[in-house]
Amino acid sequence: MNSSIKKIVYEGKAKILYCSSDPKILIQHFKDDATANNAEKHAIIKSKGILNNFISEYLMSKIEDNGIETHFIKRINQREQLIKKVEIIPIELVVRNKASGSIVKRYNLKESLEFTDPLIEFFLKDDNLGDPLLNETHIIEFKLANYEEIKLMKSLALKINNILQNIFRNIGIELIDFKLEFGRVGDDKNKDKIILADEISPDNCRLWDKKTRKKLDKDIFRKNLGNLIDGYQEVLTRLGLKLI
Ligand code: TMP
Repeated sequence: MNSSIKKIVYEGKAKILYCSSDPKILIQHFKDDATANNAEKHAIIKSKGILNNFISEYLMSKIEDNGIETHFIKRINQREQLIKKVEIIPIELVVRNKASGSIVKRYNLKESLEFTDPLIEFFLKDDNLGDPLLNETHIIEFKLANYEEIKLMKSLALKINNILQNIFRNIGIELIDFKLEFGRVGDDKNKDKIILADEISPDNCRLWDKKTRKKLDKDIFRKNLGNLIDGYQEVLTRLGLKLI
């Protein structure tokens, strides 16, 4: 189907969701747009969307292989994948193994300080408010998720952290932190099952080369550290993937 005639369900900063012929399935299209500082900084970086589509396909599939349900169904072309339609929970869940980014500024921490246990933080997914930090009582009071759902998302996030850390450790990359989004989907047994949604790519992870400490993620763009595509391509190649 030609993108220009597909019905848009949602358009975000880096992705577009289109209807498919099945009401339970959407098409997730990866754009080349890169944004930082809540879209204050914006650029089109040729091929970024393609690299993220392939990297996210691989990582989501590995997470599924480990028994965690995700929205990912299959990649259908260089920029698009089929996904299960979910109701996104408007929370960005960040797992941090070492301090970098916003947490360093917020608490005046030393960059790359290792946390005793992985830290989990929740942010409200709301660009107009600048994605403010949430605690669990905010989440319950604002009816974003209930206590059991929070517990489940935290436990899934820690399992996903282990899976991703293992994958990246094996290719000489350190997983510093990453962001997850979850969604609710109904099935016969469970009306509000929570599954992993969105994407997992160098756009929403911090990935550092173990030896050189070189950044291979979106911080290259955020901090003007060089060519973003070189970093993402390095991740793709080390994962043993090729753009086909
Ligand atoms: P932060 O240090 O800016 O809070 O980001 C933590 C991690 O979450 C980092 O890997 C980037 C990712 N992230 C997103 O994917 N989207 C966002 O909107 C934000 C704020 C962070």
